[in-house]
Amino acid sequence: MAGGERSLQRIGERLRAIGLVLLLLLVMAGCEGGSGDGVNGDNEVSGVNGDNEGDGGNGVGGPLHGEGALPQDGGAHSPAASPQGNSHGEDLERPIKIGFSMDTLLEERWAKDRELFRQSVEALGAEVEIYASNGDDALQIMQAETMISGGIDLLVIVPHNAEATAAIVKKAHSSGVKVIAYDRLVKNAEIDLYVSFDNVLVGELQAQAITKLVPRGKYVYIGGAETDNNAHLFKEGVFNVLQPMIDSGEIKVVYDQWTKDWTPANAKLNMEAALKANRNDIDAVIAANDGTASGVIAALEAHGLAGSIPVAGQDAELAAAQRIVGGTQTMTVYKPIHELTLKAAELAVMMARGEMPAADRKVNNGKIEVPSVLLAPIAVDKSNIDETIIKDGFHTRQDVYRYAPPAR
Ligand code: BGC
Repeated sequence: MAGGERSLQRIGERLRAIGLVLLLLLVMAGCEGGSGDGVNGDNEVSGVNGDNEGDGGNGVGGPLHGEGALPQDGGAHSPAASPQGNSHGEDLERPIKIGFSMDTLLEERWAKDRELFRQSVEALGAEVEIYASNGDDALQIMQAETMISGGIDLLVIVPHNAEATAAIVKKAHSSGVKVIAYDRLVKNAEIDLYVSFDNVLVGELQAQAITKLVPRGKYVYIGGAETDNNAHLFKEGVFNVLQPMIDSGEIKVVYDQWTKDWTPANAKLNMEAALKANRNDIDAVIAANDGTASGVIAALEAHGLAGSIPVAGQDAELAAAQRIVGGTQTMTVYKPIHELTLKAAELAVMMARGEMPAADRKVNNGKIEVPSVLLAPIAVDKSNIDETIIKDGFHTRQDVYRYAPPAR
């Protein structure tokens, strides 16, 4: 290379270096401006909002947002503006934001919970971010962490796994975020509040209804998911009623199994095993919810036994209501979801503001006595379906009686 060419090359290299330094300086100047905006939290929150709106439509796996963009003024006029700001000491005037971490949307009820909770929170002037993890523990933890680091003021959680979700409570608390267990209890964690129905009473109502019809005989108990604390409470309630009759020899429980992940398919397998083991000689079945009852009834149908063996369920699902008027399911337990979502939303917003509501009940979760609010479930059979779930608008009369003429 000639001497002239070499010096030209050197000059070129220097110019490139100067250019790079200038570029770096420009980038740094840009960042300073950005971080100034970022501290107030609006950017952070609306950034999350923007992401969510893109995939919030299906509500499964991804987040579901309150409709509309966040107010540009930071929610200063919102009735649920956070007085203290969030745990990160950011933005004192922005609206309260509640995170709702759900397990599954498999059963019909959870879609109602999701929609009614969203409406109730928004009616209070707060915002809600919703995720569902479809029974995936690791995903539920990750989603909750995303919401916590995204700056929610309070987390409401429906745990898939009562024990595994304790990690979420720890994480939330370390960020100054309180946690409400919704419908299902989180075990062995310092959960701040539990809002649910009286789940022991749910089981008692089931067993009272069935033992009235079948005071003696062979019983099958098809439980819920062992990982769900509610499944244990439902079973406790059932056996509170059955035990004295078992002790006196009037009732014999010939089959008793949990149903993995509450699926109707697993419940059907359980019921088939129960029928086989007892050569179809069964007098009554109590299933932990309407989904598992549907699996039980499918198995009974395959043996021509549907309608002749009483079956109890829970949730007042539309299909269960139809089976009740149609005669293949005996009863269900109606839990007015609108009452639960309203209560949970009120308490969540209140606690996010820093107030601690009075709770009249305490439930032990293995670690602490959790302040609890437990609502009343209602037993429903053919005789009162009209004045309960239909009267409340939980289902329409037309839908319930779609496949069966109403008994008049
Ligand atoms: C709920 C039931 C529901 C079941 C399965 C329980 O924790 O209380 O209403 O049917 O989970 O999702």
